[in-house]
Amino acid sequence: MHRHKPQTKPRNGLVAALDIGTTKISCLIARQEGTRPPRVLGIGHHASAGVRHGAIVDMDDAEAAVRAAVGAAEEMAGTNIHSVNVALSGPVFKSRLVAYDIGIAGHEIGDQDLRKILDASRLASELPEDQEIVHSIPVGYSIDGNRGVRDPRGMFGDRLGVNLHVITASTNALRNLDTCLHRCHLEVENRVVGPYASALSALVEDEMKLGVTLIDMGGGTTNISVFFDGELVHADCIAVGGVNVTNDIARGLSTPVQHAERMKTLYGNCMPSPSDDLEVIKVPLIGEEQTGETNPVARSMLVGIIRPRIEETFELIRERLNSAGFEKLSGPRIVLTGGASLLPGVREMAGSILNKAQVRMAKPRYLEGMAEASSGPQFATCAGLIYYALESTGELAGRTYRPKDQPASRLGRIGQWLRENF
Ligand SMILES: Nc1ncnc2c1ncn2[C@@H]1O[C@H](COP(=O)(O)OP(=O)(O)OP(=O)(O)O)[C@@H](O)[C@H]1O
Ligand SMILES: [Mg+2]
Repeated sequence: MHRHKPQTKPRNGLVAALDIGTTKISCLIARQEGTRPPRVLGIGHHASAGVRHGAIVDMDDAEAAVRAAVGAAEEMAGTNIHSVNVALSGPVFKSRLVAYDIGIAGHEIGDQDLRKILDASRLASELPEDQEIVHSIPVGYSIDGNRGVRDPRGMFGDRLGVNLHVITASTNALRNLDTCLHRCHLEVENRVVGPYASALSALVEDEMKLGVTLIDMGGGTTNISVFFDGELVHADCIAVGGVNVTNDIARGLSTPVQHAERMKTLYGNCMPSPSDDLEVIKVPLIGEEQTGETNPVARSMLVGIIRPRIEETFELIRERLNSAGFEKLSGPRIVLTGGASLLPGVREMAGSILNKAQVRMAKPRYLEGMAEASSGPQFATCAGLIYYALESTGELAGRTYRPKDQPASRLGRIGQWLRENF
């Protein structure tokens, strides 16, 4: 669908992104002048704190970590920021497809009709009270019941229908995030669900058009977005990530967590290989750090601990995609981002469990001024926030959402609609 210019231009060309992850917090400050591509001026990273499975659980700790990451980026950029585009991940958001129509009495459809039908406030009465709209993305229009209309402007009809992909998030989680940012003297410019942001920096347009599932494998969460016909049609999150793998290793081998993390990144693999039994790793034992006592462990044992967890994660994703009706619509292709996707063997396992022939590991699209150290798959979400802010995708973002007293709209769940249409 048509992508157009942002509705709110970043102030004086500066645009800032903040990704509050479970293991690290990243901040990017970029500037865009004219039609030139954005240039990164400041980068700040800090170990995360007060965040579990993507959600803030300790306000003081989270505030300190956000301040540190933002402060580092500001120092490098030589300027202060007042507002940020922030990512939402963790099981706080819900994705649904809804359809409704309005009467247009036979006149030529124009912008005012689109504004009317896309007015997110009409959805308010249909939403659970503890949820707020974060994204509401038109994924297709119909005129007098004829579906498959991409842009209804300039056409005539009696009824204009729209299919909207609405993503809501828990009001309390949003409030916690806002509070944390306010404490850091930051306003929210846009809230973007993490897997949407990751997709904007990691996917190419053809992938979005042909159908693709992006899986962002983070520390405490695994986030999913599905694109079809160029639009985000589904998003989901499960509360499992690389931290769970590390904890499994620590428990399984009785080794401190930081050693488990190191072993995972140095020797970890989720696919077994014949030489694994011959390779022996020295594993420091918990409580024996002083004596330096280690335990010899075959690499096959490490692989045996990692594999079931990754398998389980992809099986969960498969179940979630299937139960949402996306087993076929999730496209022929998988794209992986997030730090946990760096584990060797993950690509093969994703392909075999999700039954997709094409699996690609992705890094964020190149941003001028981005340091090499910040260009890995862990930074796809943060980089994607910059793209989101700069090339708003023609949706009505949550910030325009103001509940009004409107008569209940004719709104229904339409998983059915997708099956009929694609
Ligand atoms: N080379 C590697 N091999 C295996 N795992 C790795 C590697 N590098 C990083 N990881 C894992 O990636 C995870 C962190 O990924 P990432 O930075 O994307 O998460 P996050 O954004 O902080 O968390 P989330 O998105 O879940 O809130 C950690 O669990 C880490 O162990
Ligand atoms: Mg992340």
